[in-house]
Amino acid sequence: MIPLQMLLTSIRDNYQIVGTIDCNSYNNNFADLYIALQELKQDSFSPNQRIMVTITADYYKQQHGVVLQSLQTIVNNVDISNCFILLVTTNANVRAEYKHIHDTYNFDDTFFDIEIIDGSYIKLSGDDIQAYTKNSGITQNIEQLTKLSQKQKDLLFNSKNFCIVPWISLQVGIDNKVAPCCNYSGEVGDASLDSLETIWNNKNNQKLRASMLEDRTVKECQQCIVEEQYNKTSLRQSINADFSHHVNRLKQGTTPDYKIAYFDSRFNNLCNLSCRICYHGSSSSWHAPAVAVGLLDKDTPVFLKAGRSKHDLYLQVNEQIDNIERMYFAGGEPLIMEDNYRILDELDRLGKHQVELIYNTNMTQSSLKGRSIFDVWKNFSNITVGASLDAEKTRAEYIRTGTKWDDVIKFRQQMLQKRPDINFFVCSTLSIINALHVPDFHRSWVDKDLIEPHQFKINTLHYPKWLAVETAPLYLKDKIIEKYEKHLDWLRPLDRQGSATNGFESVINQVQTDAKFDSKLFWKNIKPLDAFYKVNLLDDFPELVDLPQ
Ligand SMILES: C[S@@+](CC[C@H](N)C(=O)[O-])C[C@H]1O[C@@H](n2cnc3c(N)ncnc32)[C@H](O)[C@@H]1O
Ligand code: SF4
Repeated sequence: MIPLQMLLTSIRDNYQIVGTIDCNSYNNNFADLYIALQELKQDSFSPNQRIMVTITADYYKQQHGVVLQSLQTIVNNVDISNCFILLVTTNANVRAEYKHIHDTYNFDDTFFDIEIIDGSYIKLSGDDIQAYTKNSGITQNIEQLTKLSQKQKDLLFNSKNFCIVPWISLQVGIDNKVAPCCNYSGEVGDASLDSLETIWNNKNNQKLRASMLEDRTVKECQQCIVEEQYNKTSLRQSINADFSHHVNRLKQGTTPDYKIAYFDSRFNNLCNLSCRICYHGSSSSWHAPAVAVGLLDKDTPVFLKAGRSKHDLYLQVNEQIDNIERMYFAGGEPLIMEDNYRILDELDRLGKHQVELIYNTNMTQSSLKGRSIFDVWKNFSNITVGASLDAEKTRAEYIRTGTKWDDVIKFRQQMLQKRPDINFFVCSTLSIINALHVPDFHRSWVDKDLIEPHQFKINTLHYPKWLAVETAPLYLKDKIIEKYEKHLDWLRPLDRQGSATNGFESVINQVQTDAKFDSKLFWKNIKPLDAFYKVNLLDDFPELVDLPQ
């Protein structure tokens, strides 16, 4: 350990310090640490230049400090080579901690310069502290970030519960339940009774916004909270970042102007598939199997539609079209829904080609009534396609009943050829059925040049619990952990932004709960559907042969 004075003399002799960052003054405010590093970044550094970073306290929930881990990730994300960071710390164990962090979270071959100095080092409990992950939501939009006040930054990036969604968005479910987003487990209104404008500032929405402003836990927002516990970037985190430019809407308190910036469109349940993870509420094709196995009354209508009349929702969205910045299309299957094509035609007519179009699609149909989706998209510049693919080949055809795998491949190849600019990723919903196969599927699509390694997300299964990976038997959980760790060794160096890594890491956390496998319930649900479709789970997924029966 070097006394501080001696170190300072040696630093003056050996380095040119371009700036100093005291991590203690940022506490766990990683948005500000990000800004500070971004401001000190230069186009190029000369060999003796350094940014000096000091750490004399850190938060612990593992064997290494959360601030040190976050510092490494931010340095990578801001894109400064590690070798231009001079870390000065009172942490006598820093080299061991940094080695682990460098091995696990870093993607730059160089290392921080580290100097340990005399002085006290404080270890704080990190139970409530989230490390900055590559997807923490704090984006490269520094100009926007620097406009935010400290209170706004705390709400958007450091709070546990605050979410900007109730100020910018509404989601209407096919069952007419209106919610702020698709993760919300309750409802704030009923679209079969009231207009969206009435619901926007009704009592429920006002109460929800009041809780948000006070950063209180909202039990209906549990899905995001659980995802964050698994260290997965939640919808809350990503939307707080993406829509931080609307933070001034908070000044209007709990009754903001009726302006929908983000609309989540699920007009009806029309779908050509009946995926095992889905149900009749989202897919008309689930009607027949659900009736056959006794999950649904045969008198339930096959087609379900939201709104007070035939085109009600479409008309209400159209009224908001000037305010809309992002449209999310799901369903049902969005690429076979006429109202979705009509919205695009209207946006096209108005010249609103910058509106962000986000799709979840099963990738089986690229045209409707002879109209290719590529023609409809031709003027739009900001398109994201999340392909809901949980497996490949016959495994895909088993899980997503009705899929013809060749159609999926053809659609993806067409997209690569016609619109390589589309932000495409595979969105795999993970269940007991496909958990062991998903890493192979990911590798296979990368090997076939259908995606880059980072274009793969893991979607957390919301229901049913008997299919959820955390309820897998212990032996299978062990196999999953082993397989995912190996997969991550391959993935981490190839996934510089960490967008795919995050999902696979979260599965390792997710399976480490003590939820139990209920074999009776599992097979009671699998076998009748297998009989209806004349398939057998173990034929298509032989890796599950040891599942207790
Ligand atoms: C209901 S689908 C509708 C859009 C489209 N048909 C599709 O499959 O992408 C929307 C998303 O929810 C996912 N999903 C379906 N069932 C789910 C479940 N039980 N838990 C979590 N996500 C689910 C799908 O994989 C898809 O990514
Ligand atoms: S394609 Fe989408 S909506 Fe259709 S059954 Fe599958 S998950 Fe549900």
